[in-house]
Amino acid sequence: MNDNINNALFVQGFIRMCDDGFNQGWHERNGGNLTYRIKPEEIEEVKSELKDDGEWFPIGTSVPGLAGEYFLVTGSGKYFRNVILDPWANIAIVKIDDNGEKYKIVYGLEKGGKPTSELPSHLMNHEVKKRVTNGEHRVIYHCHTTNVIALTFVLPLEDKVFTRELWEMATECPVVFPSGVGVVHWMVPGGRDIAVETSKLMEMYDVAIWAHHGIFCSGADFDLTFGLAHTVEKAAEILVKTLSMQNYKLQTIEPQEFRNLAKDFKVDIPEKFLYDKTTKYVINTVDTTENKSIIRKSFKMKLFEGMEDEYERRHNELWPEMKEMIHEYGGHNYSIFLDKETNILYGYIELENEEKWAKSADTEICRKWWDYMADIMETNPDNSPVSTDLKNVFFLK
Ligand code: 13P
Ligand code: ZN
Repeated sequence: MNDNINNALFVQGFIRMCDDGFNQGWHERNGGNLTYRIKPEEIEEVKSELKDDGEWFPIGTSVPGLAGEYFLVTGSGKYFRNVILDPWANIAIVKIDDNGEKYKIVYGLEKGGKPTSELPSHLMNHEVKKRVTNGEHRVIYHCHTTNVIALTFVLPLEDKVFTRELWEMATECPVVFPSGVGVVHWMVPGGRDIAVETSKLMEMYDVAIWAHHGIFCSGADFDLTFGLAHTVEKAAEILVKTLSMQNYKLQTIEPQEFRNLAKDFKVDIPEKFLYDKTTKYVINTVDTTENKSIIRKSFKMKLFEGMEDEYERRHNELWPEMKEMIHEYGGHNYSIFLDKETNILYGYIELENEEKWAKSADTEICRKWWDYMADIMETNPDNSPVSTDLKNVFFLK
């Protein structure tokens, strides 16, 4: 009786993709969701089996560019592993109203339920992608890819860092995702705010990483979209493995090699991703022309009497901009110890480069921090802490 719908290639492709994703380990429990913008001729094929008497529900955002479109979607709280066993209990066809404000279920979710909680993100991404690809992209896929998620705990959450690090992991990457990947900082999932941030990235990229959560991929069909997620996750897995062996690379694919690759494979890759890495990030290629060993610097400062708790409190609440600045200027593993008997503070920091670190003193945020700390410690006339370098007399690795 449902043969038309069950035999439809877009339905079969959708079911297969859910199963493939589950088998990759990207869909624990109800994790992840998939949506497909159905072609007019495909909807025509199954139209006689759709019901039109369903209730309209608010989407939670506005997608006028998708007015009147039909989507095949996974259900909220439904498990990808069950889709192949009982598709229509777990997935549905929904129709968008003429204003792009509401949806209704026209087929499926037979045992109750509603479309994925990420419907706002999916539809806003669809709307952007439909526009920027002239209607070519039809699939939006959200999955919980283990290795990409792991990387969001150790790499700076910047588009250019993720793009470049992933590209370096497999030669195919710049060809498969030449425009790069975008990164969304951690946000509450399931609502309009994260949908807005993700859809902004989809203007430029086909992949958006949600920090500590998963990825969103967009593509023209199921193969391309699944293949994209698969390639990104594979590159992430290689990076996780590489970093598990050691925190640097002895060799990698260099910017000029990417340019050569792009030329031969006829893809455009933005120069912004081919930045000079030797000075910027911890995960770096080893520069064999210069012995770039870490500089271990120690120094002492003086705290005013009775300010111990206040000093600790202010550091526990260190401003995020200050933290970022320290990393940006090549400071790592920064510790400060207090000798309670003398009120002397002992600082220890690992530096990439002394000159670069010295420049951090000229940043606005550093000056602001010094001004803020001046009432509880000994300072110079410009409010910088009075600091004396200490001599290293022993080191054992
Ligand atoms: P749903 O079950 O509502 O699709 O949510 C799963 C998920 O991954 C949320 O980000
Ligand atoms: Zn999710």
